[in-house]
Amino acid sequence: MTDPIDYARYDRIRPIRWTGDTLELLDQRKLPFEVRYIPCTTCASVAVAIHALIVRGAPAIGIAAAWGVVLAARELDASGAGAGLDAAAAAERLEPAMQQLNAARPTAVNLAWALQRMRRALSTAGEDWRGVLLREARAIADEDLAANHRMGKLGAGLIANGSGVLTHCNTGSLATAGFGTALGVIRAGVAQGKVERVYAGETRPWLQGARLTVWELQQDGIDATLIADSAASHLMKTGQVQWVIVGADRICANGDTANKIGTYQLAIAARYHGVKFMVVAPSSTVDMATPNGGKIEIEERDQAEMLGLGGTRTAAEGVRAWNPVFDVTPSELIDAIVTERGVVERPNRVSMQTFFGP
Ligand code: MRU
Repeated sequence: MTDPIDYARYDRIRPIRWTGDTLELLDQRKLPFEVRYIPCTTCASVAVAIHALIVRGAPAIGIAAAWGVVLAARELDASGAGAGLDAAAAAERLEPAMQQLNAARPTAVNLAWALQRMRRALSTAGEDWRGVLLREARAIADEDLAANHRMGKLGAGLIANGSGVLTHCNTGSLATAGFGTALGVIRAGVAQGKVERVYAGETRPWLQGARLTVWELQQDGIDATLIADSAASHLMKTGQVQWVIVGADRICANGDTANKIGTYQLAIAARYHGVKFMVVAPSSTVDMATPNGGKIEIEERDQAEMLGLGGTRTAAEGVRAWNPVFDVTPSELIDAIVTERGVVERPNRVSMQTFFGP
C-alpha cells in the first residue's frame, strides 16, 4: 500500500548532512532568519556544536554524535595513528572522543544510546571497521527517519477529526533525521485532515517554538499559531485544543518523561482541563536503566540565556536567573507514549516493562 502522507511536502528540512568527508550542521541558533550550515571536520567541533545548540533535539544530537565518531576515526588516520589498528585497538583509541561527545549534554539519552551503538558496532567489526562505523552512523539516521514516519501514523490514529493540538519546543525535522516525533504526529494529523488547529508555545528561554517550530510548519504550508508559554492554560480552558503533543529527551522505566522545561506544567494544566497528553519518541529515547524521573540529570544552562533576548539584556544588571532547561512529567499525567514499536497507553512500570523490557 502506498503511504498516504506526501513526505516531499511535509518534511522539507535537514539539520544534518554528511557530504562524504564533512558533517554539515544547520546552525539552529540563527534560525529563522539565516539558513546556514556549519561544516565540521573534527569530533571536537561536533561536541562543541552539540553543547552550543547548533544541533539540538534528542534524536538529532545522537545522530550528530555518531557522525562525530566517524570524524574521530578519520582524524586518527590523518594523524597517522590509525595505521595498522585493528577494531579492538581502534575502539580503545576512539574512547576519549566518545566520552567528549557524551559529555556535551547530559539529559537526552539518545546521545549515550547512539555512542553505545557505535561502540557495539566496533566490537564486532573486522578489518573494515572504518566502513562499519560509517554504515552504523548512516543506519542510526535512516532508522530514526523510519521511526518518525511510523510514529506519525500511530499518533495520528489517536486523534479525533476536528481536533486542535498544542506542542512545545521543537520536535520536527530540525530535531531528528527528518519529519519529527511530536511534530511528525501533527504533520500526519494535518495530512489526514484530523488536526484543524495547531498551536506552538514559544518555549522560553531559547525560543525553540517561536524560532523553529512555527518556521518549520510554515515551510510545509501548515497553518500554526504561536502562543506565549503562559497562555497555555487559557488556551485549554477555552476549548481550542484536545491534545498536547510533545517529544521526549528520556523516558524512564516507569514512564516518567524528561522534556523541555515547561512540559510538566502543560501536563498538569492538560489533566485539569480534560485535555489529553501525548509523548512521542523513538525507542532510542527509552531508558529502562533509569527507574524514575528523579534519577535524571537535568541540564542547567548559562543564566545569560534567561537574562536577555537576541543579544539585548532584558533584566536589570545584577539580576540572577535559574535556567534548568528540562523538567520531568510524571507518568500518571501522560495518556499515551507513542514509539515506533507501538502505543503505551497510561504508561506505568508494568506496561513499560512489557513493551521495552528484555
Ligand atoms: O534543548 P533542546 O532544544 O535540545 O531540547 C529539545 C527537546 O526538549 C525536545 O522536545 C526533545 O529533544 C525531543 S526532539 C524530537
